[in-house]
Parts: sequence; C-alpha cells; structure tokens
Amino acid sequence: MLSCTSIIHGANQRDTIAPEFVLTAFIFMTEPLARYQTRIETALSRALPPAGARLADAMRYATLGGGKRLRAALLYATADDFGVPPDSVDAAACAVEAIHAYSLIHDDLPAMDDDDLRRGRPSTHRAFDEATAILAGDALNTLAFALLANSPLPPATRLAQIQTLADAAGWAGMIGGQMGDMAATGKTLTLPQLQAIHRGKTGALIRAALHLGALPAADYAAHAATLDELGEHLGIAYQIADDILDATANSATLGKTAGKDAAQGKNTYPVLLGLEESRAIFAEHSARAQAAAARLPNGAPHLCALLARIIHRSH
Ligand code: IPE
Ligand code: IPE
Ligand code: MG
Ligand code: MG
Ligand code: MG
Repeated sequence: MLSCTSIIHGANQRDTIAPEFVLTAFIFMTEPLARYQTRIETALSRALPPAGARLADAMRYATLGGGKRLRAALLYATADDFGVPPDSVDAAACAVEAIHAYSLIHDDLPAMDDDDLRRGRPSTHRAFDEATAILAGDALNTLAFALLANSPLPPATRLAQIQTLADAAGWAGMIGGQMGDMAATGKTLTLPQLQAIHRGKTGALIRAALHLGALPAADYAAHAATLDELGEHLGIAYQIADDILDATANSATLGKTAGKDAAQGKNTYPVLLGLEESRAIFAEHSARAQAAAARLPNGAPHLCALLARIIHRSH
C-alpha cells in the first residue's frame, strides 16, 4: 500500500501536469475505490424506497446509476483506517450520498444552475418534472437522517453522526455555500469570499464524510482536529478541480454540461486566477490534505490510497 509520504512526493513531481490530463491516473476500477463503490451501490439500493411509485422512482433515478461515490468511499476508507467495521457505517455512507444526490437535483433546477445533464443522463427535473425533482430532493434529505437514526451504532454515536451531518448539510455548511454561490452569480468575488463558498457548498459534506466514518472509533476525539484539517483542504481542492474541469473538459467526459460556469457568470478559481494559478493552488491544498492524512492512525493507508485517486481525477 502506498504511504501518504510517497504519494506527496509523487504529487509534487506531477504538479506541472494538469489534473484533467491525467486521464489514466484515476483508475476507476482498481482498489480501494472499486470495493467501496460496490458496497455503497448495494447499500443505497436497499436504503432507498422500492421502485414503483413516482417519488421513489425519482429518488432512485437521482441516487443510483452514476456518480463517483467519492464521499461514501472517503467515509468507508476513514472507517477502515480507524478500525470501524464497514457494516456499522453503511447507513452513514448512504446518508452522505443521499444528501449529495439531493444537492445535485436541486443544483440542476432551472432556479439554480439550470442544467439538463447529470451523470451522463437527463437531470432529474428533465427526466421527471420540476415538482417531482424538488420533492425527491426533499425526501432524500430527510431519508439521510432517518438512516442515521436507525443505524446499528450506540445511541450516543448515532446522535453525534446526526449532529455532524446536520451541521455540514445545513445553513452553516452546504446550503449556506449554495446560497453564497447563487447570490454571487454575475458578480465578482474576492478570493477569500470564493474560498468560503467552496468550503461550504463542497467542503462541508466531504469533511463530514471523514468524521462520520471515524466517529464510532474509541480514538476519534484525539484525531478530530486532523480530520477537520484534511477535510478543509480536500474540500477546497475538490471544488477547484470541479471548476477547472468545467472550463477544460468536455460534457461527454464529465457527464454534465461543460463550460457552464463561464456561461452563467459563476465565480470560480479559473475565472478569478486563471488556470495555471488555479492548478498551483489545487496542488497546494491536495498536498496539505495528504500531509494531514499521514498523521492519522497508522498513516491512514486506505485514505492515502483514495486521496491519490481523487486528486488525479479526470471527471
Ligand atoms: C459534483 O460532485 C458537485 C460538487 C460538489 C463538486 P461529484 O463530482 O463528486 O459528483 P458525482 O457524485 O461524482 O456525480
Ligand atoms: C454544486 O457545485 C455543489 C452542490 C451541489 C452542493 P457545482 O454547481 O459546481 O456542481 P456541478 O458542477 O453542477 O456538479
Ligand atoms: Mg452550482
Ligand atoms: Mg451546478
Ligand atoms: Mg461545477
């Protein structure tokens, strides 16, 4: 297994290579990502309401059949590195992906980014209709907390997970970030303002995934600050990569409409700083995320291997 130190060394060597050009480095079907992906697909299919009713069909459409599952994978990898059995965090992994799927449904609505393509298919409001899409998002949001409340973990751990996810997904986290993104569309932000939006709209859920995976472990509290640090840098790096890919990749590769950020007047790192500077800042946050992971128990080998794949993603 690669250590984070060797990965950091490798990342530094590759700093001059644009993430979108490292097409082969994000090896989708290799360990450890493939194992986590298989696990989350099965768990999600069971956690969602059965197909047949229109609302359930829309929830399943938006959540299954696509998505890199990186938030679930981060959660499972953290659990692995903290010695937490995966079956005790299946509910939390489903909860994080349910919140993420709901955020994408709403993000694509005409009132927000007005996007017709998601995960290589028509977005949910195009495949169904706007009312169904809004309600499927709402239902996925509440399903997430029901899953956490009913998981097999001790009540105090379940409560801590519910608090963690609620804080991350709500007004001070993901939704706050989405509000900032929408309010700033068509205006020009400063870099600290843009970073605060990225920290909320994307970073908060990524940070929460790490905490949810480690929370059941006895030594969680000793490492909570390091998990925060990892999540902070990974979350910002992840959204910078998303912004770079929007500006440089094509819709077929992304499975969503490329070039939308510029067309809609979104504030992004490439718009504010240009591609080269954005890539340098991406590399800096990625390296800091890896350095934090290396300080977790036993050097967090599962997380380190996963981070290497996330950092070099092509879509
Ligand atoms: C897209 O996230 C939206 C962001 C917050 C950047 P992902 O790129 O992880 O989307 P899926 O789950 O793989 O479709
Ligand atoms: C979406 O950010 C963030 C959330 C949905 C919370 P983007 O608007 O950049 O995501 P994409 O590019 O549509 O996937
Ligand atoms: Mg958006
Ligand atoms: Mg969008
Ligand atoms: Mg984007």
